[in-house]
Amino acid sequence: MSFSQKYHPLPTVDKDAGEQESLQRRDPRKRRSLLVIVVIIIMFTSLPFVHMIRSRGLWGACHGSQRNSSTLAKLPSHYTLPSGDNIPSVALGVWQAGKGEVGNAVKTALTAGYRHIDGAWIYRNEEEVGQALKASSVPREELWLTSKLWNTFHAPEDIETALDQSLSMLGTDYLDLYLIHWPVAFKTGTTILDEDLTADPYPTWQKLEELVDKGKIRNIGISNFNIRRIQNLTANNLKYQPAVNQVELNFWNPQPELLKWSKENGLLLEAYSPLGSDKQVGKSLSVPEVKSIASQLGITPAQVIISWSVQRGTIVLPKSVTPSRIAENLEVFELPQEDFERLEKAATSHTPQRVVNPSAGWKLPFDVFDGQ
Ligand code: A2P
Repeated sequence: MSFSQKYHPLPTVDKDAGEQESLQRRDPRKRRSLLVIVVIIIMFTSLPFVHMIRSRGLWGACHGSQRNSSTLAKLPSHYTLPSGDNIPSVALGVWQAGKGEVGNAVKTALTAGYRHIDGAWIYRNEEEVGQALKASSVPREELWLTSKLWNTFHAPEDIETALDQSLSMLGTDYLDLYLIHWPVAFKTGTTILDEDLTADPYPTWQKLEELVDKGKIRNIGISNFNIRRIQNLTANNLKYQPAVNQVELNFWNPQPELLKWSKENGLLLEAYSPLGSDKQVGKSLSVPEVKSIASQLGITPAQVIISWSVQRGTIVLPKSVTPSRIAENLEVFELPQEDFERLEKAATSHTPQRVVNPSAGWKLPFDVFDGQ
């Protein structure tokens, strides 16, 4: 077919033009209906494409203000501890993960790519966690397991037995990290305050150091210690400095002074209840700044908060037993500096509000966080 044969326009144009002209002349309402039909067809056929563009996060590229999470930089996946060990920056928290659900949560997390499980003897679920670890094909050396020494075992002679219980329930012969759960000691087997070991935790710490040397623990740390209590411990001639301090850190209780002090003193913080725990998670995810950053970046509100936590330089321990949330919470992204600062400002501009403070429940004659 020659060019002129293929593209010769004259006869058809003449015909169509004539037809359109006569259509116009004949019936303008028919022409309008035709137009409406054409517009409807275009709308319906383009809808799936619009949906695809939005769902793949490409909308930002076409639309200016929103971005696509795949264009965001990733945050550090690990921090290096004084021992030289690399601890994963995001863990599955299993506090309040009940019996019958915690095992599946751990299995889901390992499949999703988590390698750090943050537990404790007092959560009363270490056995189920251990069974889930055993059922998984992840080699022990790829896992980071944290447990915590409960208040009633602070007496040096009780510590190894408590540790051995956790090791046996978890099905392992060493822990990557073992923390003094609270700066509060109870007398053995009771809930009565042991004033001496509370005032001076050094004997407890020395025993933990011994267990590091014995190979049963790779790193030791503290939890729920304020600056005054940390200094009370570190004023001693420690063989091993605390590797981390695990504390409540979230939008409602961001603790900027503790964070600043810890950075200046080389102490890594771990953020528990990063979403505000089950009590405040709904409120956290509805914070206007969190919502607007999430929609601009094309990520979820939970991912904004978890990312902010890592970007603040802390380890983060979101708890979930819901498979989709477990996967969601592992994906952290570097927030653009202005968004990070906006969130930091919002978090630190209201009166701090803790979710967790057992002082009254334990009938302590002081507030465990006093002086922070
Ligand atoms: P669930 O375990 O039923 O999935 P925190 O980590 O601050 O302790 O918060 C834990 C609470 O937040 C739990 O109630 C948990 O519910 C919920 N949660 C965890 N991840 C998400 C998420 N990505 N979106 C919404 N809720 C979440």
